Amino acid sequence: MVVYLVGAGPGDPDLVTLKAVKALKKADVVVYDRLANEEILEYANGAEMIYVGKSAGKHSKKQEEINEILIKQAKKQEVVVRLKGGDPFVFGRGGEELLALLKEGIHVELVPGVTSAIGVPTTVGLPVTHRGVATSFTIVTGHEDPTKKEKQVKWNYNADTIVILMGVGHLKENTREIMKYKDPETPVCVIENGTRPDERIVLGTLDNISEKKINPPALVIVGPVVDVFKDIKENMPEDQV
Ligand SMILES: C[S@@+](CC[C@H](N)C(=O)[O-])C[C@H]1O[C@@H](n2cnc3c(N)ncnc32)[C@H](O)[C@@H]1O
Repeated sequence: MVVYLVGAGPGDPDLVTLKAVKALKKADVVVYDRLANEEILEYANGAEMIYVGKSAGKHSKKQEEINEILIKQAKKQEVVVRLKGGDPFVFGRGGEELLALLKEGIHVELVPGVTSAIGVPTTVGLPVTHRGVATSFTIVTGHEDPTKKEKQVKWNYNADTIVILMGVGHLKENTREIMKYKDPETPVCVIENGTRPDERIVLGTLDNISEKKINPPALVIVGPVVDVFKDIKENMPEDQV
């Protein structure tokens, strides 16, 4: 028995790794959630498919339930693939699943994926670092667990670029917090549904981005690299923009 903990990338089925494809091809069962592009599942032709993501109007399964499903499948099947959007360890709760499996003595193979946090900006031509402009970036959740007693996200990051995941719901409150430390005119780029056919880019500043219509899933990128992106876009051939 082996469980492959696999990152499926941000959506474009071509952005999945060869290692992920090899694991899927030998899978007896695939446990997947919403962000994984369904086309990728075709590599696992014939495998049992277990969906554990959120479905319309229903709550998603609790993490403990998912861990239990993984343990049960691992004890029953030769090859289990746990497929997760982006990279399993970037806000994917992959660490929790890994620990739960290891504690049961189950062998786990780890397959990284292209995280949306970096992969999505790259595909549109937005570099998260840029010589002379940004020497650091931070990736942060815009939706910290509301049950946490003490907030871990303080928004006082001194990184040149801030990439916010799960940042649509609390965009107004979060940009207000960031403006305590950064100029309200700091440029912001939002990328909705990155690498997918319905990808959409919204530009603004810290001061006005929350007034714009934005739908999840989206990335919020804050910092002067957004101006570099605008420059890159202007110089891109029409058919590439
Ligand atoms: C629970 S996190 C999972 C992140 C994932 N593990 C990764 O590495 O990309 C989900 C968040 O990732 C971001 N995200 C994932 N896929 C995206 C995409 N294709 N375009 C824009 N944002 C995306 C959004 O901020 C979304 O709310």
